[in-house]
Formats: sequence, C-alpha cells, structure tokens
Amino acid sequence: MSAYVIQGGERLNGSVKIEGSKNAVLPILAASLINGQKTTLYNCPDLKDVSVTLNILGLIGCKVERSSDRLVIDTSTLKTSEVPEKLVREMRSSVIIMGAMLTRMKKVVLGYPGGCEIGIRPIDLHISSLRALGAKIIETGGYLYCEAEKIYGADINLDFPSVGATENIMLAAVSAEGTTIIRNAAREPEVVDLQNFLNAIGGRISGAGTNIIRIDGVKNFNPVEYSVIPDRIVAGTYLIMAAATNGDIEITDIIPEHLSSILFKLKEAGCKLNVEKDRIQLLSPKRLKAVEAVKTLPYPGFPTDLQAPFLSLMTLASGTSVITENIFENRLKHVGELIKMGAKITTEGRTAIVKGVKKLHGAKVDAKDLRGGAALITAGLTAEGETTVYDVQHIDRGYELIDRKLQSLGAKIMKIND
Ligand code: EPZ
Repeated sequence: MSAYVIQGGERLNGSVKIEGSKNAVLPILAASLINGQKTTLYNCPDLKDVSVTLNILGLIGCKVERSSDRLVIDTSTLKTSEVPEKLVREMRSSVIIMGAMLTRMKKVVLGYPGGCEIGIRPIDLHISSLRALGAKIIETGGYLYCEAEKIYGADINLDFPSVGATENIMLAAVSAEGTTIIRNAAREPEVVDLQNFLNAIGGRISGAGTNIIRIDGVKNFNPVEYSVIPDRIVAGTYLIMAAATNGDIEITDIIPEHLSSILFKLKEAGCKLNVEKDRIQLLSPKRLKAVEAVKTLPYPGFPTDLQAPFLSLMTLASGTSVITENIFENRLKHVGELIKMGAKITTEGRTAIVKGVKKLHGAKVDAKDLRGGAALITAGLTAEGETTVYDVQHIDRGYELIDRKLQSLGAKIMKIND
C-alpha cells in the first residue's frame, strides 16, 4: 500500500492542466464496443479505473493501445459476452458495459457489481430500464444473465436521474428498433459527452443535458476519432485545494460552465475568480468565509463528488457551514479523519455541521474512498506539520499524478510505499 506524506503550510501557486474526465471516458470506452471497428480517443486520463476497463476490453477480445493520453481501441475482434467477474468486482461502474454488450452481442453475463465505500449502489433502475427495452435479465448466484434477441425502443421514466442508468439506456437503445425516450434523465456533462460520442459513430440521439433524451435506433456505425471532455471534478478539487492554502492558481483546458455550482460556492467563501474561455484563475482570501448551506444534488446542482473536498475547505472558514449529502448514503467517512486533524464537525445522518477553526494540525489519516481521500490531501496541504494519508489507491482511481501536479504548484507532498 502507498501513502502521501504532506508538509502543510505551502501556498499553492502556478498553473495546472486538467486531465480528461474519468466519468466521461468510462461510458465512452463501453460505447466503443458498439461500432465493432476502430475508435481513437484523445484526452484520456491515466487512471486505475481506465486501466481496469481497458483490461476488461482486452480480456473479451478487443485490441487496445495506449500512448500518453491517446487510446486506440479495435473492437472488431470482440469474442465473448462473458465479462470477467474479478474486474467487475474491482470496479462496479463496469455495469455500464451491459447496454453496449446487449447492442453488440445481444447478450452479456457479468458478475453482480457490488456496493462500494460510499453506498450499496443498487442497479434496479438499470435493470428495469433494460427490461423495458426488451432485455431478458436473470439475477442468480451473484451473476446477471442478460439477453435481447431484439431491442425495441421504449418510453422510460427514471424514478431518479441516475447517471449510470441514463448511460446504460443510451448504449442499449442506440440501435433499437424504433425510438426511445428517457424522461427524468441525468443531465451531467458526461451524459452529453456520451451522446456526442454515440452520434459521432452514427447514432441519432438528442436532448442530453436536459431531462428528456430521445434516441432513434440506427443500424450502421462507423469508426471514430474523439476527444473526451475535461474532468470537472478534478478541476473543482484543485480550485478547492488552492483556496485551502490561501493560494493563487490557474487551471487550464477546462469548460468553466461545467463548474458553475462550485464556482458560486467558492465566491461565497470569499475567493476571487477570473473565468475565461478554457481556464480559471482563483485567488484565495487570507481567511475564508463559511458557506452557510451546501446540499449535493444531481447536475447542475452542487456535485456529490466535490462534497468531501469542499467540506474539508469549510473546516478552516470563519463561521459554521451545514453540508448535506443527498445522493449517496455513506459519503461522510472523511469526517472522522478530519476530526483527527483538529476539525470541529458533528454529523446527523447525511448532514455535517462544520464549525470553522483557525488551524488544523497534521496527523496520520486513512483515505476511505476516492473523494474523501482528496479531502484529506486538501486538509494536509494547509495543516500545521506533517500529514500522512494512507490507502491512497482510492485517490489514484480518480486523480492522475496528483502528487506531481501538486508539487508543480509548490506543495510539499511525496508518495511513499508504507
Ligand atoms: C456516477 O455514478 C459517477 N460515476 C459517480 O462518481 C457520481 O458520484 C454519480 O454518478 C452521481 O453524479 C461514474 O460516472 C463512473 P447514479 P452512478 O446512478 O452512475 C441511486 C466518483 O467519485 N441509484 O447517478 O453510480 C444510487 O444509489 C463517482 O467519480 C439507484 O437507486 O450514480 C445513488 O444514491 C462516485 N438505483 C443515486 O442513485 C440505480 O439503479 C445516484 O446514483 C442507480 C442508482
């Protein structure tokens, strides 16, 4: 296992390029199964979750080549519809492969993707939606056996605007017989990126980014070259880290509109933001003001993936902040670790009440999940003394070379094998 050792107190300064979006590239890699030809992807982040997905594609017979942020995938050689169970367990978001495999192979067998650190992560909406499209799905012995001789367009209403379920429906409906409508669809930018990718290989989809998506089934697909959108969660995390250290940084190669909810909260906390077409400069005040209320919501609301880093920031603000996690049932595990560093936080269910303190002190803490780990790095960057964050494999799933990038901004952070 490895850890990050951080000497706190350095102000972050300088410029950092934001990598491509993990949550856009994962469904697009699944979608590359559909054209059964060559897909070239640019701006792909070098992350564990991407490597696991590439492993799955390789193991089911596809050819995959990676050079720097460019991926070339040839899915013409796909040879099985059985997805390796070990890899599905390793990364539950591989459930997204179901829709694409049904389109390409008319069947798929995959291990039931379990829960993870932040919640039980049910897939009932995925399963009911794919059944509405004509798939027969049997859940037995920890496996999902799915098949669909024919996929028929359907009118689907999602009880919750689930990102994954919306994406799975798009992947299964892209070549259905007829038209599919998704109502109460997720509106995240990553869903829009998937629509744009599917249209680039020949699909006919419209409405992504709104709560109603229309998919007219098509039969023919083509090879494609496509560039993935930047990662808005990574971008927001670096802005938060700069704000925590009274820093002055610029983040580049981003789409500011994807960050609007977090930019408003950072402004409310007293940060100065210069927003340009593809970059943002953040100037942090000496002492942050507490943002009284933060509630995580589906996009364009405040993103659940930035709740932990932002909560970490509020531990240092003057005043009290009430932060409510509305999306996942178990996403406050970083609170206990932040309290070890001197933070004043109480929790009631999914709500954390954060009373700002002047300073945190370094400590040995454990990353419990991906974004909670980023929250602990944020605290370590500003705490007095040394902080060691253990179990950083969680963090490396979603942040490319975070130690190197923070070092380039002046942070004293080092990766060690503990
Ligand atoms: C995606 O997860 C992201 N992951 C998550 O990012 C992100 O937090 C989440 O969307 C919300 O924005 C990827 O895109 C790979 P959901 P997903 O389905 O699709 C419930 C990160 O840190 N639900 O929108 O799994 C579910 O339990 C990760 O990068 C059902 O009840 O999210 C949760 O409470 C974490 N039944 C809520 O919906 C279902 O069938 C949101 O889940 C599906 C979901």
